[in-house]
Amino acid sequence: MLIRQSAELTENDVTDEALYLRRREFIAGVAGIGAAGLIAPAAMAADAPATVKFSPNKMKIDETPTPFADVSTYNNFYEFGTDKSDPAANAGSLRIAPWTVAVDGLCQKPRKFDISDIVRRFPLEERIYRMRCVEAWSMVIPWIGFPLSALLREVEPLGSAKYVAFQTLNDPKQMPGQRRNVIDWPYREGLRLDEAMNPLTLLSVGLYGRLLPRQNGAPIRLVVPWKYGFKGIKSIVRITLTDRQPRTSWQMLAPDEYGFYGNVNPDVDHPRWSQARERRIGELLRRKTLPFNGYGDQVASLYRGMNPKKLY
Ligand code: MTE
Repeated sequence: MLIRQSAELTENDVTDEALYLRRREFIAGVAGIGAAGLIAPAAMAADAPATVKFSPNKMKIDETPTPFADVSTYNNFYEFGTDKSDPAANAGSLRIAPWTVAVDGLCQKPRKFDISDIVRRFPLEERIYRMRCVEAWSMVIPWIGFPLSALLREVEPLGSAKYVAFQTLNDPKQMPGQRRNVIDWPYREGLRLDEAMNPLTLLSVGLYGRLLPRQNGAPIRLVVPWKYGFKGIKSIVRITLTDRQPRTSWQMLAPDEYGFYGNVNPDVDHPRWSQARERRIGELLRRKTLPFNGYGDQVASLYRGMNPKKLY
């Protein structure tokens, strides 16, 4: 397994020579698969470093990762079509360099981050997370990223900031699905500020030891493992600190079916189906869904005193 290869090596094992060799591999056009804690941002800005280091296996669970072939071909990314196979087939038209992420709103130091600055500046780590889609399927994905809290701290949120709003790129030329009004584009998501600052909440730039495939939300996306997958907004261009609960795409589309929180809860059914069990992609038998997707010990305290029905 690719993951194992990474696990056997620590950062100290990555010598200058190895770095040099990897660089040559990348120049030869070999993607970073199998690299020991290194990914190549070749598709990013010309001045991006030749390789990007990450600490492998910072956090893992005792479950087998879903094969890369499934993670990268069974996707939801409506900007490229509504079928699961559409994003992998159509996302090639997305230009991921240059790419900037504006971080603004209620903060002392609003600014734009270039994606190549982001991968240089924030220490990247690998985290293997259980992911649960609202459609009752799940995957286990080895993400590479860094805590969203690190980025937010750079802009110094004001005391009045209570929520964080996210937006995906809006460009129908690059995103053919946006030529149809299935969603009020751009795709929008939001978190409460304390959810955004929770150490589990990641901004991801890669998975399976390589940069994010476009269909998975390149060059940067949100990963919130205790929430349903729709909260994991892809290809982010704007992050705004605000004092009002932001409106989110699925809430706007179907307010009776999707709330702001989207916390995984096996006891609260979706109006059209049960959330008690899930189909792990690649497995035959269905599994029980866990409250907060199994991350309750780390996040349940965020919601103390709130009605669990409202947390959907
Ligand atoms: N982000 C954008 N911009 N557009 C989308 O349609 N779909 C969401 C989420 N992020 C979506 C998005 C949904 S419904 C899910 S389940 C996850 O992305 C799927 O992520 P994956 O394809 O990487 O598994």
